Amino acid sequence: MKLPESMQSKGLNVAIIMDGNGRWAARRGLPRVAGHRAGIASVRRIVEHAVDRGIARLTLYAFSSDNWRRPASEIQSIFWLLRAFLRLETQRLLRRGVRLQTIGRRDRLPKPVLREIEKAESATATGKCLHLCVALDYSSQESIARAAVGVTESLTNIGSSSLDIFKLMLTQALMMEGGEVDLLIRTGGEKRLSDFLLWESAYAELLFTDCMWPEFDKNDFDAALEEFHRRERRFGGLPTATLQSAASTV
Ligand code: IPE
Ligand code: IPE
Ligand code: MG
Repeated sequence: MKLPESMQSKGLNVAIIMDGNGRWAARRGLPRVAGHRAGIASVRRIVEHAVDRGIARLTLYAFSSDNWRRPASEIQSIFWLLRAFLRLETQRLLRRGVRLQTIGRRDRLPKPVLREIEKAESATATGKCLHLCVALDYSSQESIARAAVGVTESLTNIGSSSLDIFKLMLTQALMMEGGEVDLLIRTGGEKRLSDFLLWESAYAELLFTDCMWPEFDKNDFDAALEEFHRRERRFGGLPTATLQSAASTV
């Protein structure tokens, strides 16, 4: 789908909860791991398309801190696929100007995966087109709590107890991770955030689709961007039409 010039999405911060891999596989009589494999192919497609559309930042929820509750064999397969993705895709990401980073805890990740992440992060560090953040062993509540502890320590050191300064510093600490989200998409039909970018999505436009992640393609992404551009963001203010009619009656 070709978007008109005005609908190009330069500079947007998009986040995606990539859900539905397991159900996609089950519907085809396949093991869940086949869904995760197909999900990786979807990641490749969507990252390419995000670059083409001029998206500034794309944060992909790949593994939540609660996903450790899954069977060990599924967790192993997910990390194996992730490692293979990083090994195979880093050069392509580099060529396309993508800077890859992960957010979330690193201390519980399998060591070979961590090594591959570090290699990919340093190889793509100069990427200027798209900032790709992969959320791994990620919990938004935990990252807010960690940031709050850090900010409290800094403020205690400087002897400040201002709530405004606390909020500003907390926002700064968290924005380093996910940035302020413009559009948050969740595939797979569920309508919840599952502990993803809670602070950063304060004014995000939310878009839930029944499409399973392995089936989410460029057209679906464009349709989501179109829907985003149709919405009016007010950030607590009044609709533009109301303001205009108020101005014309003064
Ligand atoms: C999302 O798909 C991928 C991960 C959580 C790793 P799911 O594996 O949650 O797929 P469903 O929700 O069971 O279909
Ligand atoms: C959210 O999906 C996490 C990822 C997509 C990585 P889940 O499938 O884990 O979420 P719940 O359990 O349905 O809330
Ligand atoms: Mg799920």
